Amino acid sequence: MDDKELECYRKAGKIASKIRNEGKTLIKPGVKLLDVAEKVESRILGVGAKIAFPVNICINDVAAHYAPKINDELVFSSKDVVSLDVGVHIDGFIADTACTVDLSGEFGKLLDVNEKSLEEAIAAIKPGASVSLIGEIVQDTIQSAGFKPIENLTGHEVKQYDLHAGLSIPNIKVPYDWRIEEGMVLAIEPFATDGYGRVVESKKPEIYSMIDRKPTRMREARIIMKEMEDRESLPFAERWLSKKVSPLKIPLAVNELLSKNIITGYPPLHEMKKGIVSQFEHTVIVLEDGCEVTTL
Ligand code: CO
Repeated sequence: MDDKELECYRKAGKIASKIRNEGKTLIKPGVKLLDVAEKVESRILGVGAKIAFPVNICINDVAAHYAPKINDELVFSSKDVVSLDVGVHIDGFIADTACTVDLSGEFGKLLDVNEKSLEEAIAAIKPGASVSLIGEIVQDTIQSAGFKPIENLTGHEVKQYDLHAGLSIPNIKVPYDWRIEEGMVLAIEPFATDGYGRVVESKKPEIYSMIDRKPTRMREARIIMKEMEDRESLPFAERWLSKKVSPLKIPLAVNELLSKNIITGYPPLHEMKKGIVSQFEHTVIVLEDGCEVTTL
Protein backbone atom coordinates (compact mmCIF):
# COMPACT_ATOMS: atom_id res chain seq x y z
CA MET A 1 0.00 0.00 0.00
CA ASP A 2 1.46 3.38 -0.92
CA ASP A 3 1.58 6.40 1.40
CA LYS A 4 -1.26 8.24 -0.28
CA GLU A 5 -3.57 5.24 0.01
CA LEU A 6 -2.63 4.73 3.65
CA GLU A 7 -3.27 8.38 4.39
CA CYS A 8 -6.75 8.20 2.75
CA TYR A 9 -7.69 5.06 4.71
CA ARG A 10 -6.55 6.72 7.94
CA LYS A 11 -8.38 9.95 7.21
CA ALA A 12 -11.60 8.12 6.25
CA GLY A 13 -11.31 6.04 9.44
CA LYS A 14 -10.89 9.06 11.68
CA ILE A 15 -13.90 10.78 10.14
CA ALA A 16 -16.05 7.64 10.25
CA SER A 17 -15.20 7.08 13.89
CA LYS A 18 -16.05 10.64 14.90
CA ILE A 19 -19.31 10.64 12.96
CA ARG A 20 -20.30 7.22 14.34
CA ASN A 21 -19.79 8.55 17.87
CA GLU A 22 -21.76 11.71 17.13
CA GLY A 23 -24.51 9.71 15.42
CA LYS A 24 -24.79 7.42 18.41
CA THR A 25 -25.74 10.35 20.66
CA LEU A 26 -28.63 11.24 18.32
CA ILE A 27 -30.35 7.88 18.88
CA LYS A 28 -33.04 8.57 21.48
CA PRO A 29 -36.66 7.54 22.03
CA GLY A 30 -39.05 9.61 19.91
CA VAL A 31 -36.41 10.61 17.34
CA LYS A 32 -36.99 9.66 13.69
CA LEU A 33 -34.53 7.24 12.08
CA LEU A 34 -34.72 9.44 9.00
CA ASP A 35 -33.43 12.47 10.94
CA VAL A 36 -30.45 10.53 12.28
CA ALA A 37 -29.62 9.13 8.82
CA GLU A 38 -29.82 12.55 7.18
CA LYS A 39 -27.76 14.24 9.88
CA VAL A 40 -25.07 11.57 9.74
CA GLU A 41 -24.93 11.62 5.94
CA SER A 42 -24.80 15.41 5.70
CA ARG A 43 -22.09 15.48 8.36
CA ILE A 44 -19.94 13.14 6.26
CA LEU A 45 -20.28 15.47 3.28
CA GLY A 46 -19.86 18.51 5.53
CA VAL A 47 -16.35 17.48 6.57
CA GLY A 48 -15.32 16.97 2.95
CA ALA A 49 -15.55 13.18 2.85
CA LYS A 50 -17.91 11.03 0.76
CA ILE A 51 -20.58 8.53 1.76
CA ALA A 52 -19.43 4.95 1.10
CA PHE A 53 -22.95 3.52 1.59
CA PRO A 54 -26.28 4.78 2.95
CA VAL A 55 -26.28 4.95 6.74
CA ASN A 56 -27.81 1.70 8.03
CA ILE A 57 -29.97 2.05 11.14
CA CYS A 58 -31.30 -1.28 12.33
CA ILE A 59 -33.70 -1.89 15.19
CA ASN A 60 -34.07 -5.04 17.33
CA ASP A 61 -34.33 -8.13 15.09
CA VAL A 62 -33.14 -6.25 12.01
CA ALA A 63 -29.45 -7.01 11.61
CA ALA A 64 -28.45 -5.07 8.51
CA HIS A 65 -29.48 -3.11 5.42
CA TYR A 66 -32.27 -0.98 6.81
CA ALA A 67 -31.93 2.56 5.50
CA PRO A 68 -34.75 5.03 6.11
CA LYS A 69 -37.17 5.52 3.20
CA ILE A 70 -38.32 8.79 1.67
CA ASN A 71 -40.56 10.41 4.36
CA ASP A 72 -39.89 7.50 6.74
CA GLU A 73 -41.93 8.14 9.91
CA LEU A 74 -40.37 5.39 12.02
CA VAL A 75 -39.12 6.59 15.43
CA PHE A 76 -36.96 4.96 18.10
CA SER A 77 -38.79 3.64 21.15
CA SER A 78 -37.47 3.29 24.69
CA LYS A 79 -37.48 -0.50 24.19
CA ASP A 80 -35.21 -0.55 21.16
CA VAL A 81 -31.76 -1.95 20.54
CA VAL A 82 -30.35 0.10 17.66
CA SER A 83 -27.30 -0.40 15.48
CA LEU A 84 -25.74 2.39 13.44
CA ASP A 85 -23.46 1.42 10.55
CA VAL A 86 -21.54 4.23 8.88
CA GLY A 87 -19.40 4.17 5.72
CA VAL A 88 -17.07 6.97 4.68
CA HIS A 89 -14.59 7.18 1.84
CA ILE A 90 -11.82 9.48 0.71
CA ASP A 91 -11.02 9.00 -2.99
CA GLY A 92 -12.67 5.58 -2.76
CA PHE A 93 -10.66 4.40 0.25
CA ILE A 94 -13.29 3.17 2.66
CA ALA A 95 -13.86 3.14 6.41
CA ASP A 96 -16.78 1.01 7.58
CA THR A 97 -17.75 1.11 11.26
CA ALA A 98 -20.75 0.29 13.42
CA CYS A 99 -21.92 0.41 16.99
CA THR A 100 -25.07 -0.54 18.89
CA VAL A 101 -27.09 1.47 21.39
CA ASP A 102 -29.36 -0.22 23.93
CA LEU A 103 -32.24 2.15 24.69
CA SER A 104 -34.04 -0.59 26.64
CA GLY A 105 -31.30 -1.05 29.20
CA GLU A 106 -31.94 -4.81 29.03
CA PHE A 107 -29.29 -5.98 26.61
CA GLY A 108 -26.07 -4.71 28.16
CA LYS A 109 -24.64 -8.22 28.35
CA LEU A 110 -25.32 -8.89 24.66
CA LEU A 111 -23.67 -5.62 23.60
CA ASP A 112 -20.68 -6.09 25.91
CA VAL A 113 -19.85 -9.58 24.67
CA ASN A 114 -20.38 -8.48 21.06
CA GLU A 115 -17.92 -5.63 21.50
CA LYS A 116 -15.49 -7.96 23.26
CA SER A 117 -15.71 -10.42 20.34
CA LEU A 118 -14.70 -7.62 17.97
CA GLU A 119 -11.73 -6.65 20.13
CA GLU A 120 -10.57 -10.25 20.38
CA ALA A 121 -10.93 -10.83 16.64
CA ILE A 122 -8.89 -7.68 15.93
CA ALA A 123 -6.19 -8.79 18.39
CA ALA A 124 -5.75 -11.99 16.34
CA ILE A 125 -5.48 -10.31 12.93
CA LYS A 126 -2.04 -10.49 11.32
CA PRO A 127 -0.59 -11.76 8.05
CA GLY A 128 -1.04 -15.53 7.78
CA ALA A 129 -3.92 -15.74 10.28
CA SER A 130 -6.70 -18.00 9.05
CA VAL A 131 -10.16 -16.47 8.68
CA SER A 132 -11.60 -19.57 10.32
CA LEU A 133 -9.57 -18.83 13.45
CA ILE A 134 -10.97 -15.29 13.54
CA GLY A 135 -14.49 -16.72 13.16
CA GLU A 136 -13.84 -19.23 15.92
CA ILE A 137 -12.68 -16.49 18.29
CA VAL A 138 -15.86 -14.49 17.62
CA GLN A 139 -18.06 -17.56 18.00
CA ASP A 140 -16.43 -18.77 21.22
CA THR A 141 -16.54 -15.33 22.81
CA ILE A 142 -20.21 -14.76 22.01
CA GLN A 143 -21.30 -18.31 22.86
CA SER A 144 -19.47 -18.24 26.19
CA ALA A 145 -21.95 -15.57 27.31
CA GLY A 146 -24.92 -17.65 26.17
CA PHE A 147 -25.59 -15.80 22.89
CA LYS A 148 -25.04 -16.67 19.24
CA PRO A 149 -23.09 -15.04 16.43
CA ILE A 150 -25.02 -14.48 13.20
CA GLU A 151 -23.53 -17.27 11.13
CA ASN A 152 -24.52 -16.00 7.69
CA LEU A 153 -23.18 -12.47 8.02
CA THR A 154 -19.48 -11.82 7.58
CA GLY A 155 -16.91 -9.10 7.65
CA HIS A 156 -15.26 -8.29 4.37
CA GLU A 157 -12.22 -6.94 2.63
CA VAL A 158 -12.49 -3.44 1.17
CA LYS A 159 -10.63 -2.00 -1.79
CA GLN A 160 -10.81 1.33 -3.56
CA TYR A 161 -14.46 1.94 -4.49
CA ASP A 162 -15.20 -1.69 -3.61
CA LEU A 163 -17.08 -2.28 -0.37
CA HIS A 164 -17.18 -6.08 -0.54
CA ALA A 165 -13.92 -7.08 -2.17
CA GLY A 166 -12.32 -10.51 -2.08
CA LEU A 167 -11.90 -12.00 1.36
CA SER A 168 -14.80 -12.59 3.79
CA ILE A 169 -14.23 -12.73 7.54
CA PRO A 170 -16.70 -15.19 9.07
CA ASN A 171 -18.21 -14.89 12.54
CA ILE A 172 -18.06 -18.65 13.10
CA LYS A 173 -15.50 -21.41 12.61
CA VAL A 174 -15.58 -22.42 8.92
CA PRO A 175 -14.28 -25.45 7.01
CA TYR A 176 -11.91 -23.48 4.78
CA ASP A 177 -8.54 -22.01 5.38
CA TRP A 178 -8.28 -18.64 3.66
CA ARG A 179 -5.48 -16.53 5.03
CA ILE A 180 -5.20 -12.87 5.85
CA GLU A 181 -2.41 -11.04 4.01
CA GLU A 182 -0.34 -7.97 4.75
CA GLY A 183 -1.77 -4.83 3.13
CA MET A 184 -5.37 -6.05 3.15
CA VAL A 185 -7.98 -3.67 4.51
CA LEU A 186 -10.71 -5.53 6.39
CA ALA A 187 -14.05 -4.54 7.90
CA ILE A 188 -14.51 -6.82 10.90
CA GLU A 189 -18.15 -6.99 12.00
CA PRO A 190 -19.39 -9.60 14.43
CA PHE A 191 -23.12 -9.67 15.10
CA ALA A 192 -24.52 -11.22 18.28
CA THR A 193 -28.08 -12.31 19.02
CA ASP A 194 -30.28 -13.96 21.60
CA GLY A 195 -32.15 -15.59 18.69
CA TYR A 196 -31.28 -18.45 16.34
CA GLY A 197 -28.11 -16.98 14.83
CA ARG A 198 -29.11 -16.60 11.19
CA VAL A 199 -30.65 -13.80 9.16
CA VAL A 200 -33.25 -13.95 6.40
CA GLU A 201 -34.15 -11.37 3.78
CA SER A 202 -37.31 -9.38 4.12
CA LYS A 203 -39.46 -6.88 2.31
CA LYS A 204 -38.42 -4.35 -0.21
CA PRO A 205 -34.89 -3.02 -0.42
CA GLU A 206 -34.06 0.62 0.23
CA ILE A 207 -30.42 0.11 -0.70
CA TYR A 208 -29.21 -0.71 -4.20
CA SER A 209 -26.01 -0.79 -6.15
CA MET A 210 -25.17 -0.75 -9.82
CA ILE A 211 -23.93 -4.02 -11.29
CA ASP A 212 -23.89 -3.34 -15.02
CA ARG A 213 -24.24 -0.51 -17.47
CA LYS A 214 -26.89 -1.14 -20.11
CA PRO A 215 -29.10 1.07 -22.25
CA THR A 216 -32.59 1.91 -21.12
CA ARG A 217 -35.19 4.08 -22.80
CA MET A 218 -36.79 5.38 -19.62
CA ARG A 219 -35.57 8.91 -18.90
CA GLU A 220 -35.75 8.60 -15.09
CA ALA A 221 -33.90 5.28 -15.18
CA ARG A 222 -31.13 6.95 -17.16
CA ILE A 223 -30.91 9.78 -14.61
CA ILE A 224 -30.60 7.22 -11.81
CA MET A 225 -27.98 5.27 -13.72
CA LYS A 226 -25.92 8.44 -14.15
CA GLU A 227 -26.11 9.04 -10.38
CA MET A 228 -24.88 5.51 -9.73
CA GLU A 229 -22.01 5.91 -12.15
CA ASP A 230 -21.00 9.11 -10.40
CA ARG A 231 -20.78 7.00 -7.20
CA GLU A 232 -18.42 4.53 -8.91
CA SER A 233 -21.08 1.86 -8.28
CA LEU A 234 -20.95 2.18 -4.48
CA PRO A 235 -24.35 1.47 -2.84
CA PHE A 236 -27.07 4.12 -2.81
CA ALA A 237 -30.37 4.74 -1.04
CA GLU A 238 -33.64 5.04 -2.90
CA ARG A 239 -34.29 8.07 -0.67
CA TRP A 240 -31.39 9.97 -2.26
CA LEU A 241 -33.03 9.75 -5.67
CA SER A 242 -35.90 12.02 -4.70
CA LYS A 243 -33.56 14.96 -5.23
CA LYS A 244 -33.11 14.00 -8.88
CA VAL A 245 -36.32 12.24 -9.94
CA SER A 246 -39.95 12.84 -8.98
CA PRO A 247 -40.70 10.49 -6.04
CA LEU A 248 -43.77 9.28 -7.96
CA LYS A 249 -41.57 7.99 -10.77
CA ILE A 250 -38.88 6.38 -8.62
CA PRO A 251 -40.55 2.94 -8.13
CA LEU A 252 -41.10 2.50 -11.87
CA ALA A 253 -37.56 3.57 -12.72
CA VAL A 254 -36.06 1.35 -10.02
CA ASN A 255 -38.10 -1.61 -11.31
CA GLU A 256 -36.88 -0.96 -14.84
CA LEU A 257 -33.26 -0.97 -13.63
CA LEU A 258 -33.81 -4.12 -11.54
CA SER A 259 -35.53 -5.99 -14.38
CA LYS A 260 -32.64 -5.21 -16.73
CA ASN A 261 -30.10 -6.32 -14.11
CA ILE A 262 -28.52 -2.88 -14.13
CA ILE A 263 -28.88 -2.58 -10.36
CA THR A 264 -29.35 -5.04 -7.53
CA GLY A 265 -31.16 -4.50 -4.21
CA TYR A 266 -30.19 -5.33 -0.64
CA PRO A 267 -33.37 -6.02 1.39
CA PRO A 268 -33.26 -5.59 5.17
CA LEU A 269 -31.98 -8.73 6.93
CA HIS A 270 -33.96 -9.99 9.93
CA GLU A 271 -32.97 -12.45 12.60
CA MET A 272 -34.68 -15.73 11.73
CA LYS A 273 -36.31 -16.23 15.15
CA LYS A 274 -36.84 -12.52 15.81
CA GLY A 275 -33.92 -12.37 18.24
CA ILE A 276 -32.41 -9.04 19.22
CA VAL A 277 -29.29 -8.33 17.16
CA SER A 278 -26.28 -6.27 18.08
CA GLN A 279 -23.37 -5.27 15.84
CA PHE A 280 -19.94 -3.71 16.34
CA GLU A 281 -17.55 -3.04 13.50
CA HIS A 282 -14.14 -1.59 12.80
CA THR A 283 -12.00 -1.29 9.70
CA VAL A 284 -8.39 -2.43 10.01
CA ILE A 285 -5.27 -2.30 7.85
CA VAL A 286 -3.22 -5.50 8.07
CA LEU A 287 0.40 -4.66 8.84
CA GLU A 288 3.57 -6.74 9.06
CA ASP A 289 2.98 -7.90 12.62
CA GLY A 290 -0.69 -7.18 13.36
CA CYS A 291 -3.17 -4.57 12.28
CA GLU A 292 -4.02 -0.91 12.66
CA VAL A 293 -7.64 -0.03 13.45
CA THR A 294 -8.58 3.02 11.37
CA THR A 295 -11.98 3.59 13.02
CA LEU A 296 -11.08 3.49 16.72
CO1 CO B 1 -20.48 -1.65 8.22
